[in-house]
Amino acid sequence: MSRAVVVVAAGSGTRLGIGDAKAFVPVAGELMLTRAVRTVFTSAEPTFVVVVAPAARLDECRALVDAVAGPAAGLTAVVPGGADRHASVQAGLDALPDGVEWVGVHDAARCLTPAAQFDAVFDRARATGDGVVPALPVTDTVKRVDGDEVVETVDRSALVGVQTPQVFPLGALRAAYASSQRSETDDAGVFRAAGGTVRTVPGSADAFKITTRWDLARAEALVAGAAA
Ligand code: CTP
Ligand code: MG
Repeated sequence: MSRAVVVVAAGSGTRLGIGDAKAFVPVAGELMLTRAVRTVFTSAEPTFVVVVAPAARLDECRALVDAVAGPAAGLTAVVPGGADRHASVQAGLDALPDGVEWVGVHDAARCLTPAAQFDAVFDRARATGDGVVPALPVTDTVKRVDGDEVVETVDRSALVGVQTPQVFPLGALRAAYASSQRSETDDAGVFRAAGGTVRTVPGSADAFKITTRWDLARAEALVAGAAA
């Protein structure tokens, strides 16, 4: 099996402020983590899944992943995360079995990401041999500021917002992480800093990251709308 996804779910959700690990917060009655992992298993292509969970919730996470994976439970691993996302991704990469060639790193907090987005990113990575990330155009007018003073308008035609899953050749991503600066805020940043090429494919509005209470309310509304 050449394809794997690392679902990072070890964050504490400080900005959401619910006092629980964010991936274990329900969206319309179902945990973010359950939603995120289930989507990975809807692909027709066999995919090894590593869930990186808070150390205190490993047993709970293992049970949850078993329930979602069903017969594919043998193609999963659950490992404890680290102090920041960078360390959690590294823990996930370390848990991948031999034979994986392409790995996607996915935020559990983007739990409404459509299955088609996974396939689009993996397909483009395989076709190009490069790293690939889903991206959306920036819609707001963007200003550079100095304190509270606007200095200039930034040309937004050259800007995108990026999402996950971000897909890379596994060997090159491991090497990039081994030599990386923790200041990079996403996997594409780590990969590119190590000399790799990263390309984009169109992302989707539903793949937004649940960060704040407003995002959670938006996710609940989207699920309710889809069910209506
Ligand atoms: N993440 C992780 N390990 C960490 C920090 C983050 O696995 N030490 C994961 C989160 O679980 C999430 C993804 O990285 O799925 C994106 O992080 P973010 O949205 O920032 O989540 P949190 O760090 O949990 O939220 P906050 O920054 O508000 O505390
Ligand atoms: Mg965070």
